Amino acid sequence: MKNIHDFYTLSNGVRIPCIAFGTYKAAQEDNVKTIQLAIEAGYRYFDTASFYDTERVLGEAIKQSGIPREEFFVVSKVWKTEMGYENTKRAFKQSLERLQMEYLDGYLIHWPKPYPEAEDWKELDRETWRAMEELYLEGKIRTIGLSNFLPQHIEPLLQKCQIQPMMNQLEIHPGYSQTAAVQYCKEKGMILQAWSPIGRGRVLQDELIVELAKKYGVTPARICLRYLVQNGIIPLPKSSSLERMKENQNVFSFALSKEDMYRLETMPQTGWSGEYPDRERITE
Ligand SMILES: NC(=O)c1ccc[n+]([C@@H]2O[C@H](COP(=O)([O-])OP(=O)(O)OC[C@H]3O[C@@H](n4cnc5c(N)ncnc54)[C@H](OP(=O)(O)O)[C@@H]3O)[C@@H](O)[C@H]2O)c1
Repeated sequence: MKNIHDFYTLSNGVRIPCIAFGTYKAAQEDNVKTIQLAIEAGYRYFDTASFYDTERVLGEAIKQSGIPREEFFVVSKVWKTEMGYENTKRAFKQSLERLQMEYLDGYLIHWPKPYPEAEDWKELDRETWRAMEELYLEGKIRTIGLSNFLPQHIEPLLQKCQIQPMMNQLEIHPGYSQTAAVQYCKEKGMILQAWSPIGRGRVLQDELIVELAKKYGVTPARICLRYLVQNGIIPLPKSSSLERMKENQNVFSFALSKEDMYRLETMPQTGWSGEYPDRERITE
């Protein structure tokens, strides 16, 4: 990968840019400014979700940019309360309306379970997926995938699905590498996206990250993002400043050594959000 417009090719041949802009908490109400800045900074792949309340401003900013819709890669997600066949179809339609778009580049199931004790989650995933498969076959979504699905959630879906998920979005950053899930998804031909790629700022003070930032002459955030890019994972950094938006794209001018990649991969857990699909949120 040489710049943010370089891409991976998904299992159905669709090209996906190698770095995205995360929109969670990136905009409030009708304030399109942050998204406009991100477009100005060069981002074309935007990650949103019905849950984030940023679809409307994202759609507005893209429209106002005057840049053709086809140049963007827009991914949204069906929320926990929107799961199931009919609900998913309705939720998708509402997302398109908020985004003022005719199609989505990616649509994901946000979480495998509406709540950790849900007994019917496998059936709910299948029904949600069935709706997404149909929307995909109708040409309304270019790629379909998952978010926060661990191997134990993906296996039952794979046994019943018609179309295999093309991607999975997980919390991944140094200090929370999720190696088993990453390995599994890669073996299944799924492209990974990393949410909270800099651990929402929580990992930037870690001693290893600080040491490597000094060694490579870059910022701690760039170490985190480079680690992901070098691992073939798409980071989705969010920032509200143009300067940091640009910094977060500046990860192609250096490479981490093999040894340093292993150090980052095996470092003690740090910066984890506490979110885990099979448990209530874990707080320290
Ligand atoms: N699928 C899911 O369940 C899920 C869950 C969470 C998030 N996501 C997606 O992932 C995206 C990113 O995750 P996130 O927003 O949780 O966390 P993140 O991108 O790891 O961190 C964002 C935080 O880091 C700061 N920051 C950004 N760049 C920086 C830099 N270069 N140096 C220092 N600080 C920097 C930002 O502050 P400033 O804004 O002030 O720059 C912000 O406070 C979300 O926006 C969303 O699209 C998905």
